[in-house]
Amino acid sequence: MELDLLGDRQRTHRCGELRPEHAGQKVFLAGWVARRRDLGNLIFIDLRDHTGVTQVVCRPELSAAAHAKAEQVRSEYVLGIEGEVALRTPETVNKDLASGEVEVVVRELLVLNEARTPPFPLDDEGRTNEEPRLRYRYIDLRRARMQHHLRLRHQAGLVVREHMMEHGFVDIETPFLTRSTPEGARDYLVPSRVHPGHFYALPQSPQLFKQILMISGFDRYFQIVRCFRDEDLRADRQPEFTQIDVEMAFPRREVLFGIIESLMAKLFALVDVKVPVPFPILPYDEAMEKYGSDKPDLRFGLEWKRVPLPESARGKVHVAEPVKALRVPGGGSFSRSQLDKLHEASKNAGADWFGTIKIAGGAQSPLAKVVGDEAVGSLADAVQAAEGDLVLLLGLKSEASPGGHTSGLSIEKLRHLDSASGDVRLDLARKLELIKPGTWAFCWVVDFPMFEYDDKEKRYAAMHHPFTSPREEDMDKIESDPSACKARAYDLVLNGSEIGGGSIRIHRPDIQRRVFQTLSITPEKARERFGFFLDALESGAPPHGGIALGWDRIIALMCGETNIREVIAFPKTASAMDLMCDAPGRVDPDQLHELELELKTAESMEAVRAVQHKAER
Ligand code: AMO
Repeated sequence: MELDLLGDRQRTHRCGELRPEHAGQKVFLAGWVARRRDLGNLIFIDLRDHTGVTQVVCRPELSAAAHAKAEQVRSEYVLGIEGEVALRTPETVNKDLASGEVEVVVRELLVLNEARTPPFPLDDEGRTNEEPRLRYRYIDLRRARMQHHLRLRHQAGLVVREHMMEHGFVDIETPFLTRSTPEGARDYLVPSRVHPGHFYALPQSPQLFKQILMISGFDRYFQIVRCFRDEDLRADRQPEFTQIDVEMAFPRREVLFGIIESLMAKLFALVDVKVPVPFPILPYDEAMEKYGSDKPDLRFGLEWKRVPLPESARGKVHVAEPVKALRVPGGGSFSRSQLDKLHEASKNAGADWFGTIKIAGGAQSPLAKVVGDEAVGSLADAVQAAEGDLVLLLGLKSEASPGGHTSGLSIEKLRHLDSASGDVRLDLARKLELIKPGTWAFCWVVDFPMFEYDDKEKRYAAMHHPFTSPREEDMDKIESDPSACKARAYDLVLNGSEIGGGSIRIHRPDIQRRVFQTLSITPEKARERFGFFLDALESGAPPHGGIALGWDRIIALMCGETNIREVIAFPKTASAMDLMCDAPGRVDPDQLHELELELKTAESMEAVRAVQHKAER
């Protein structure tokens, strides 16, 4: 159809703004056709922009031209309309619409652009599959929900900037084309054309740069920064994601915690959530014992306890000590099938020993046949079970079982048991619907182990990253007992989701060298990978520390979303694809040639040969 020009027309209002007090005013609105109803001599159009919808009505007797055009417009056409605001009659008021008491009677209608039939209706919230939503993201982003999320993200970004500025932090940009940074994921590499055979790595985080900024005397730094990690994706992981990255010199952990807690309070106030500060602080060991997770969901109780087997049970069950016991208040009424399901969940979680005790006029358990009533009673007492309760028991098979005696769990096995207990706890909370909507539970998890033994690689790895400082009281254990060495690392957790992590860093080169040594990073390797940083550490590095907050995760929680894709304008799929622009894509063989790169797959070789062929001609 013939299109109209906008010319120098200006919108007088947005589509969601008109109210009864505007009645009689002449207005010019512009937006997209959300819906059109043709009643013959009357055509109604719901005109939409990000603020909402206004009903406009075309009557042939007022403007035959406008009415004729309205007959031809379709969903998502872009219109400009000039007309007069009129009150609707009481029986036609639309209470679901903020502008539902008025409509605009059209005098002139401009068709500014046509649109293809949308791939999915915009008002079918939640029913469209994700694939078309991501492929046609420009349409999906027109939805009110997506508009809300991205606008809230923008607002929240302003709050962050203002808050960090108030506390003396300076926003400094760090490079994207850089060297590999040690956050434990794979790097995205970028080949250099001017240095053939050499690659930049996109930063997994600005970790070393922010530490260097402290060495440079910047004192307090922050950045809202994109990070890149080539790792397996989940609902809360994207290959490129955003961090609020923070670092400060001469830090006291409590000061940093205070700054982050008050930031959280301001951010959540944007969605009318009152956040009580300060947040509880849980040592890692306690979190693992009680909640079976280093990101415990504290919106509900249910606390596990590691317990030894009662003396009289030893040797009668093939389970290693400690076992884990959980009191489920009121769980004594669970049916047989509910208990079977819990047993199943415990197996799925990786536990291989499961027991239950019901407290009904004494401790009742199928286990009694094997270990005796006394042992059952003392296991129930270990978690202060009371009448009507259920006690769940979990364990791992004893490693030395034929003789029937039990063995203790190694640190790695204990973590395995703890994390199985954590999965069962979450499963139970879901089944019992213990998580009330609208509850928010923040906490800090501290005192993480400094090193983790990697059984496959037969060496220690850093649990946070290799620049994290061991606790002062554990400095003497760096070489002698790495597994017992705790780090000055901390995570920020909200509702069972890790929304931030950081640490007080190593600022002394001698300690950095010792930590590298325990991590089996030879001096030569350290020099090759982080030589520039080690030199900087030797140039007067102040004590420093910081944190990085997972911005996408925080915004998703604020928006009540479980997948961070819902708060990212152009996210990747679970297989790291951008469906809209079809990335990653093949590159022109000329580009590869220029980079002196060669592909090895047969298909790619074909493409290269085609280029050579072209060049020869
Ligand atoms: P860390 O690796 O713990 O620490 O990352 C900090 C926070 O970033 C978020 N996050 C992610 N969000 C979305 N997608 C991902 N793939 C992803 N990976 C991490 C998490 C996490 O808590 N340099 C250190 C910080 C420091 O020590 O200061 C770092 O990056 O919410």
